[in-house]
Amino acid sequence: MIAIDVHLDADAAAAMARDVRAGLSASPKELSPKYFYDERGSQLFEQITELDEYYPTRAEREILSERSGEILAAAGIPGTLVELGSGSASKTRHLLSAMRDAGCLRTYVPVDISEEITHETARVLVDEYPGLIVRGLVCDFENDLERIHSDGSARLIAFLGGTIGNLYPGERREFLTRIAALFGPGDHLLLGTDLVKDAARLEAAYDDAAGVTAEFNKNVLQVLNRELTADFDLDAFEHVARYDAREERMDIRLRSLAEQTVQLADLDLSVQFAAGEEMRTEISTKFTRERLECVYAEVGLELRGWFTDTAGDYALSLARIA
Ligand code: TRP
Repeated sequence: MIAIDVHLDADAAAAMARDVRAGLSASPKELSPKYFYDERGSQLFEQITELDEYYPTRAEREILSERSGEILAAAGIPGTLVELGSGSASKTRHLLSAMRDAGCLRTYVPVDISEEITHETARVLVDEYPGLIVRGLVCDFENDLERIHSDGSARLIAFLGGTIGNLYPGERREFLTRIAALFGPGDHLLLGTDLVKDAARLEAAYDDAAGVTAEFNKNVLQVLNRELTADFDLDAFEHVARYDAREERMDIRLRSLAEQTVQLADLDLSVQFAAGEEMRTEISTKFTRERLECVYAEVGLELRGWFTDTAGDYALSLARIA
């Protein structure tokens, strides 16, 4: 059975226009990482996940492939798997298979911004898992979390890929507070987080030798050129990826190579860049177990399980209402 609700923002274009205007008018300038993922950006990110330097995707897949059974047992054998940012659900299959093997699999709730991918994933999964109920939700999950379906069975809400690290502390607290508000007593959060490690490895993961990450970062300018009729010259910016040890996060920016003026016709906006001026496009926070325990405690959750890859580079943690 497949049922998919669509709640897309009718005015996504206006929201983007507002967002970009605010970011480019601020000092220092900043762009939201939301706009990385057009078709080209999604392809480039896919390539990033296969780079030697970019370990997080492989590490997370290793944990799920080796330890899904253990994770489920620690989560109290849930009947429903909710996945925020489900995409093609490639890593989730390990969890679904473990649920099937434990005899508890009832419902899968993919939550994603792409309607097409969500429908396609649902079709494939009901074939692969006979009897599976898919209750998908197409929305920006930062806005519509409260629409997530519940059939009364215990839920495991998975938020993978380290995406929580892309939120600022205040945004992260608000997001986790809203997740905690959805929780019944048997529900658990399964959260993917990259871990603190030496700066050289982190910086290589976000600035690969082949230049794929640089291209991915600059592609956001192409998105603005297309969507807002802007005239960013991609060759006039360079990719910068630095580890900020004090904040324990990667700080990813685009640096203007010369003094220049960029026009965004749809916004009726002209933006000046000084030579060497940097504009942030993303942060990617790295965690320790202790830091995550504090993050959970702040929002009324408690850490109940900790699963890392063999190298100890990445963690999936399990949390529930304290
Ligand atoms: N969410 C991913 C991460 O934080 C996204 C990402 C990987 C990324 N490489 C990047 C974002 C380079 C901007 C630039 O790991």
